[in-house]
Amino acid sequence: MYLGVDYYPEHWPKEMVEEDIKGIKELGANIVRIGEFAWHLMEKEEGKFDFSFFDNVISKLKEENMKVMFGTPTATFPAWLAHKHPSILSEDENGNQRVFGGRRQYCFNSDIYREYSIKITTELVRHYKDEPAIIAWQIDNEFGHEGSDMCYCEQCHTKFQKFLKERYQTIDHLNETYGTIFWGQTYNDFNEIPIPKKTITTHNPSLQLDWARFRSYSVNSYAQEQTKLVQQLKGEHQLVTTNVSGGFFDKWFDHEENVELMDFVSYDNYPVWGGLAEPITPATIAMNHDFNRGLLDKNYWIVEELMGAQGHNVIGYLPRPNQAKMWSYQAFAHGCTDMLYFRWRGMTKGAEQFCYGVVDHDNKYGRKYQEVQSFFKDISKYEDVIKSDINAEVAVLYDYDNIWSWRFQTQSQEFNFTNELMRLYTPFYKFNTKMDVIPTTRDFSRYKVLVVPALQVIDEELGNRFKQFTQNGGTIIFSFRTGIKDKNNNIHFKKALPGFVAEIAGINISEIESLSSNQYVEVKGLGQYASNKGTCSVWRDIIAPITAETLYSYVDPFHSEAAITKNSFGKGNVYYVGGGIDEEILTEIAKEVVTETGVSFIESEPGIEVYEREANGEQYYFIMNHTAELKSFENVSLQAYESKIIKK
Ligand code: GLA
Ligand code: ZN
Repeated sequence: MYLGVDYYPEHWPKEMVEEDIKGIKELGANIVRIGEFAWHLMEKEEGKFDFSFFDNVISKLKEENMKVMFGTPTATFPAWLAHKHPSILSEDENGNQRVFGGRRQYCFNSDIYREYSIKITTELVRHYKDEPAIIAWQIDNEFGHEGSDMCYCEQCHTKFQKFLKERYQTIDHLNETYGTIFWGQTYNDFNEIPIPKKTITTHNPSLQLDWARFRSYSVNSYAQEQTKLVQQLKGEHQLVTTNVSGGFFDKWFDHEENVELMDFVSYDNYPVWGGLAEPITPATIAMNHDFNRGLLDKNYWIVEELMGAQGHNVIGYLPRPNQAKMWSYQAFAHGCTDMLYFRWRGMTKGAEQFCYGVVDHDNKYGRKYQEVQSFFKDISKYEDVIKSDINAEVAVLYDYDNIWSWRFQTQSQEFNFTNELMRLYTPFYKFNTKMDVIPTTRDFSRYKVLVVPALQVIDEELGNRFKQFTQNGGTIIFSFRTGIKDKNNNIHFKKALPGFVAEIAGINISEIESLSSNQYVEVKGLGQYASNKGTCSVWRDIIAPITAETLYSYVDPFHSEAAITKNSFGKGNVYYVGGGIDEEILTEIAKEVVTETGVSFIESEPGIEVYEREANGEQYYFIMNHTAELKSFENVSLQAYESKIIKK
């Protein structure tokens, strides 16, 4: 198990390195991450590579038996490169080329940038491939983060047209697929096709989805080129990863494809960041972990764990005593196996003066230092437990084509994909149910329950897999707008909704309504839920049950049809949640699902998260108190933000 900090020796006078390494060592750390922004330090002038600074740092780290994760520095290219080749700089939607300063302003489709990236990475990895202290390489830094996944430059435009030609072969095929006859948009040649930048009203949906797919291809082809290079050059003892940022559903690249050639996934866990008065919800933090574990379907590292308040120009919420430590326990509960805190010491200069670390600018080892030290001491006792498999029985499915389709046409001003995924995830989280968050392309036959939020893009192949799953006894929960579109982002023709899953859901959708902000429709329960009432927001599908039972209907003089239905199909069941139904109602539905399907769950009071792990035949509970109140679970009491690992 590796435990450590992100360390930037280049930020400090050379004579501080030894004192810093001793302080890091006394934390109980055995690893540091270095180098991911230090390209200029390693190549001050073009072609003059000099690794002596890091040679010296690494030799001092080795004296303290510390290991190293080294970051390839392509997220921050040197000024001389931008000066010599301004074409490497990406361009925003308004045609403004991004300027040097900040980070990740490179265009993924710049051949020149790819050349220089290959050179620096080759020299760096060749230099350190036999270094026993370096056990892992981090490729770049948070691919696509902070808006860097989008570029509208001419290089991207030309390559986009080439991408489309390879995908459609003939312009007739593209015209037919896109329906460019609409508004007379028929192309005679691929070189007439625009990047869908700002225009009057909106673009063709198929063009927009292909543009998103091209962005993903651009980011991932660069990432895979770098990954293959490092995999080829590195030492046998060295592994390859990259650090995934938060907001992964808001990115323009498929994360599974981004990491598929890597040895393990690393994640940067920031439950709160600049400008937020409160952390994101405990359930959302949990989902983020489950998503990262799902990328390579195995445990993962955290290479940036928040300890101090963070922000660039605006700082965020200050984690209360033990709260950041509790988030660390939560991460290990969900499958993290190795953790580095961001960062050893806050920098006094540069754009991240207000990104606080374990040690503040006063260089004193205070409360945060003690929290990390005590956490490292405790967690290192549970290596077998945290390396064990999680074996979730519930899978939450997502698909980037679907997410991008929604991003271009939200259909409701209130629609946000992550919110709708969390609408279905949170009720199961409240029952401490283990969940994987995985792409629809993954084989999901092993699970008992599939949670399928707002999946509008369903083709026949996926529809058949859902049918098979249900026939074999699985339970599926779909939410609204399911199955309306094909993979070209076009609406199915002559298919009653919800399209390829209408049969297993036992329903049709008779009418639809987009709900605006502060617009709610009341729903009421039937049968066993007859005493329940609740609300629907964002959207509503007016469901016409065919073979399905109605669990809730709309309270509406004109459309009082079904809002939530349940259909038994084969040996399984299919629920359809026809709108933005409130959490209370969905928690009842989740309780029914886990009870009927035998999915294991643990009841705990609100704010207490319990995650069960097993190792060597023994079972453990990770218990996290996400609140400022004294809480308890079974006979264990937990102070504000306290966490405990207990043997069951
Ligand atoms: C991200 C980046 C780091 C740093 C932190 C600040 O995770 O990877 O380089 O900018 O945020 O919180
Ligand atoms: Zn570009």
